[in-house]
Amino acid sequence: MKTLSSVKEMQEFAEDSRLSGKTIALVPTMGFLHQGHLELMEEGKKRADILIISIFVNPTQFGVGEDLEKYPRDMERDKKLAEGVGVDIIFAPSASEMYPKGYQTYVNVKDVTRNLCGISRPTHFRGVTTVVAKLFNIVKPHIAIFGEKDFQQLVTIRQMVKDLNFDIEIVGIPTVREKDGLAMSSRNTYLTPEERKAALSLNQAISIARDIFRSGERRSESILREVKKRIESEDLTDIDYVKMCDSQTLEDIEEIDRGAVLAIAVKVGRTRLIDNCTFERGE
Ligand code: PAF
Repeated sequence: MKTLSSVKEMQEFAEDSRLSGKTIALVPTMGFLHQGHLELMEEGKKRADILIISIFVNPTQFGVGEDLEKYPRDMERDKKLAEGVGVDIIFAPSASEMYPKGYQTYVNVKDVTRNLCGISRPTHFRGVTTVVAKLFNIVKPHIAIFGEKDFQQLVTIRQMVKDLNFDIEIVGIPTVREKDGLAMSSRNTYLTPEERKAALSLNQAISIARDIFRSGERRSESILREVKKRIESEDLTDIDYVKMCDSQTLEDIEEIDRGAVLAIAVKVGRTRLIDNCTFERGE
């Protein structure tokens, strides 16, 4: 396994690989890898000849006052984990390599970024789509793999790929959870033991929503009321949003009469966590 930090070197490696007929899978990450990331990598390993991961804490997707500086980083540990799943190349550029002086181009996906995290983090998705578009041009993958935990991110990237004609297959992988149900996230390391306990209410609320849906309820309001009740029963939680949306447009829906996503964002102590579950029409 090699680690590359220069855009030019990464592009040359990708070009040579393509010329020799090899397929490339990319798993973009911000590092501090966990089992969720490793499952994306295992999928990449299965689907392509060469597996490349990027490790880059992307400054443009963090808003003012967010956790850019304190975002957890541990390159040595990440390297060991990546090697363990057979990663071929880690692309780990510096911020100035990705955004040199004079940088001025951004990618903005309009409608699907308006709701949900787009409301409380208005510049976030512009940063995500910008860096992912750059990574696509640098790593030249045939396929790129993302987690479904960041559901709005996945929808946004699919829209960008479609609109900008990137010739890349986007694969979404179901959320990986801890044994007790907490969705895996690098930000879970911020949680104190009490906060971690309170954070379990997100997944428990999702289970409640699933049960209500299974009993035949289709009105969003009735489901959302119970979801909020469970989360608000914890002292350390502060809901940012709990919404039922069309799973393609991400607009709020009053009734689950099409593919839908229950999307949740909650501050637990000072840590903002997101989670979701989808409902299919015929379920
Ligand atoms: O999901 C993430 O870790 C990041 O948003 C991504 C896709 C690597 C872009 O920085």
